[in-house]
Amino acid sequence: MLLRPALLAAARSPRLERTVRRMSSTRRLVGRFVAGDDEAQAIAVATPLLASGRRISIDYLGEDTTEIDQARATVTHYLSLLAALAHGQGFYDALALEISLKLSALGQALPRDGARIALDHAREICAAARAAGVAVTIDAEDHTTTDSTLAIVGDLRGDFPDLGTVLQAYLKRTEADCRALAGSRIRLCKGAYREPPSVAFQRPEQVDAAYLRCLRILMDGSGYPMIATHDPRLIEAAGHYAREAGREHADFEFQMLYGIRDPEQRRLAAAGHRLRVYLPYGDQWYGYFMRRLAERPANLTFFLRALTPGNFTDSPPGTPAGRFS
Ligand code: FDA
Repeated sequence: MLLRPALLAAARSPRLERTVRRMSSTRRLVGRFVAGDDEAQAIAVATPLLASGRRISIDYLGEDTTEIDQARATVTHYLSLLAALAHGQGFYDALALEISLKLSALGQALPRDGARIALDHAREICAAARAAGVAVTIDAEDHTTTDSTLAIVGDLRGDFPDLGTVLQAYLKRTEADCRALAGSRIRLCKGAYREPPSVAFQRPEQVDAAYLRCLRILMDGSGYPMIATHDPRLIEAAGHYAREAGREHADFEFQMLYGIRDPEQRRLAAAGHRLRVYLPYGDQWYGYFMRRLAERPANLTFFLRALTPGNFTDSPPGTPAGRFS
């Protein structure tokens, strides 16, 4: 509980990022959560996941972009990824492939016209995704972006009604957002950022209770709930709520992060549930990786053990991690 805020603050520290990137042992742990640093590695990891009956949502890592060129480069990466995924169509069921987008990586945080730039970029990617037969879901970032993100999603849904979006149960506003959006594709997660008590529940039991309230609203609605959690109690509750709402297996899906609870992912898929794996790749893994450390003390212990002399590479600060083992 005490470490989590510190780790989430560290997730936004460029200085710590330089240090963490220089540690050779970081790369092994990063490789547990991140498919690799380029598209070919992501597809190589995605292929056996798909063959095992799971679905995927691929995320090209990056966030808080402050340069327009970088935002543009992210669009180019996604267009290339979609072209590669289009080749996979026909091998897997039509709903197996999805991409996830962070609007801050598409320019939302740019000081001038950020929201409009992110909207235009997202629209371009959504159009390419539709042509490739790939679904799209927009990730949720910290609470200062929620209004802007939901406004952009609302705008995009005029042209792309199947666009998914993420809601974070820890935000006090989310129950109302669930009611407003329960007729659409909603990925419900607990929430992974450091948020103040004025906007977000802080205690785990409060977050779990909020998740259950939101889950009930989504299951009782007319949309498509995407249950993004590894929490066994919430997964069990989702099954009960789905039955009570008269939903079949095809009327909702479970989602988990790559590298987390793999046996449970397989169990759910084998039981006939739709199970999608969120699969990130790219060399901008630092923020994502630190949020995974913050979620689980055991990951942090492993990481701290790596903080021993001899675990630093000679590579200069900021060097990409290269191929993850
Ligand atoms: P909780 O953290 O309570 O974990 C339950 C159990 O899962 C743990 O006891 C452990 O067994 C396992 N577990 C969880 N995290 C682990 C880890 N890092 N390493 C190893 N085991 C772990 N957040 C956000 O703010 N915006 C977003 O857009 C998204 N998108 C998203 C997509 C998908 C598909 C998922 C699954 C999650 C997200 N998240 C997210 C992250 C989410 O908000 C949350 O931080 C994590 O899912 C962890 O919360 P759990 O619900 O798994 O519960």
